[in-house]
Amino acid sequence: MSPLENIAGGSWQGPFSDAVAKRAVAALEGGRLLFFPELAFALQADEMVFLDPDCSDGRAKNLSYDSRSGKLKGTALPLPERERLKAMVARFAKHAQALVAGLLPGYVPHLRLGRTSYRPIEVKERPSSYRKDDSRLHVDAFPSRPNGGERILRVFSNVNPDGQARVWRVGEPFEVCAERFLPRLCPPFPGKGKLLQALRLTRGYRSPYDHYMLSLHDSMKADETYQRQCPQCEVPFPAATSWMVFTDQVSHAAMAGQYVFEQTFYLPVQGLHDPSTAPLKVLERLLARELVA
Ligand code: SIN
Ligand code: FE
Repeated sequence: MSPLENIAGGSWQGPFSDAVAKRAVAALEGGRLLFFPELAFALQADEMVFLDPDCSDGRAKNLSYDSRSGKLKGTALPLPERERLKAMVARFAKHAQALVAGLLPGYVPHLRLGRTSYRPIEVKERPSSYRKDDSRLHVDAFPSRPNGGERILRVFSNVNPDGQARVWRVGEPFEVCAERFLPRLCPPFPGKGKLLQALRLTRGYRSPYDHYMLSLHDSMKADETYQRQCPQCEVPFPAATSWMVFTDQVSHAAMAGQYVFEQTFYLPVQGLHDPSTAPLKVLERLLARELVA
């Protein structure tokens, strides 16, 4: 079965029928990706100059925008270009929010808006330690930003001007992957979450859930044999298309491509149509213990 569920339409505002909305939720929570083959994020003529890796300050792999503070990080561009670049990223954030509101109205009361990113660096050129290397299959989990079981929902759009696809690999279902790796993962040592928080090494408390997700992320990336031999398929996202996925659930790796936008949303498990599909619930079932207080 293809990991993609196609959703027709070229408008970020929809409208989407109830039947399409239902299909979208079932696919997402079932560990598939929503693929929007006709949905492009159109740049304005004066924004084409930002299709340039030099937009990045070269330190982080992505530019990152926070809608709440209105701050854009990761660029060294001077004013007024910087403001125009920010307006472009902010417009993508609005489009992604409209898409989620129209297609997934059941999630809306529960959703928390995360960062927006712009990724102008060719994936193959992003320098990386293995932990940061997103060309290795992984589920998303962040060392300094624990999320206590909340889902990570991401909207991506490929704006490559030369017709270059964003190429991903998609791996095996979350539960299969968790069952494979859990026997190798060490439990968190008591008090570690509180200590990391006190030392401000994490923003908030790293719960046992966050510990296991991070260990899973790291162990998957560290296992070269697994990377090569686990069941997987290559998924090219052509230029001028968009896709949406729970990246904490779907094993993914970015292999090639340049110029992608991404918007993150956080969703508490109780906001899901079927909470039993959440990585939190799957891990709690497999470990037979609660993982968030
Ligand atoms: C990732 O989320 O691991 C990278 C996705 C991408 O930049 O295409
Ligand atoms: Fe990722």
